[in-house]
Amino acid sequence: MTQDRIKIAVQKSGRLTEHCLELLQQCGLKYSRGRDQLIGYGENMPVDFLLVRDDDIPGLVRDDVCDLGICGLNVLEEKRLAYARKGVEEPFKVLQKLDYGHCRLAFAYPEGSDLKSVSDLNGQTIATSYPRIVEDYLQKNNLNASVVEFSGAVEIAPSLGRAELICDLVSTGATLTANRLVEGETILESVACLVQTPVDIPEEKTEWVNRLVERIKGVQEVRGSKYIMMHAPRSALTEITDLLPGAESPTVLPLEEADGKVAVHVVCRENVFWSTLEDLKKAGASSILVLPIEKMLA
Ligand code: PRP
Ligand code: ZN
Repeated sequence: MTQDRIKIAVQKSGRLTEHCLELLQQCGLKYSRGRDQLIGYGENMPVDFLLVRDDDIPGLVRDDVCDLGICGLNVLEEKRLAYARKGVEEPFKVLQKLDYGHCRLAFAYPEGSDLKSVSDLNGQTIATSYPRIVEDYLQKNNLNASVVEFSGAVEIAPSLGRAELICDLVSTGATLTANRLVEGETILESVACLVQTPVDIPEEKTEWVNRLVERIKGVQEVRGSKYIMMHAPRSALTEITDLLPGAESPTVLPLEEADGKVAVHVVCRENVFWSTLEDLKKAGASSILVLPIEKMLA
């Protein structure tokens, strides 16, 4: 890896890994993986990615080892609070929330326990991998509980007698159920985020950093957008455009030998549901097609 190549840190193995690699591919990156498999070398762009533990990503970005990183908001927030305690403000720039990695940081109580909600927390011990986020929450809500840090397997802490309850990431909830824990209040909604180093990007790298960031944004926009085509009576055009979520002004084309009917083409910036199609039909539309968009450049 030479100095003027862009480095992006992604999670080595976990809930974000596959999504991150897919996103980079959709940005046009072709890559080969080194023998150690921990670096992906870009073949058609000066972009390489490092596969690392998610907890290491904020530090790599903050220290400018990597120009960019993709990491869950849960990890970013925990590290941001750690830096803030050391007097470091804005250790990384959060450029964009991505459309994957949705999960929540929530309290969980053992089944059958007297503890049911945060109002029962005073005097209790909470096991978590996110001590700073939890302490911050306790402080803001005037709750007096202790926090014990676990770097993994937090869910077994109550049965080990190390804590009365836990605060951990929940996605499907299967891990909690398997450990006979009941989900309580959410203290942070998390999602994968694109972050950039706070250090100025050197001039020889800015073009490609900006291009990659724009492409990532473009991929995100496309995934949430649809191209819709239909036939409609010209008189129903206003009603129809009002029904379409996040639609730009439509292209209206005359239809040959169809009195008063036009073809309507439009990009919707939101997903289109069956109920919308049914409403369009009621408004007089027919031959309605919803197509995925492959690429889009504003
Ligand atoms: C989290 C959490 C649980 C699991 C919950 O760990 O610690 O073990 O996910 O998911 P579920 O609700 O779908 O069962 P994660 O996989 O993020 O690993 P890490 O915290 O060690 O990075
Ligand atoms: Zn982790």
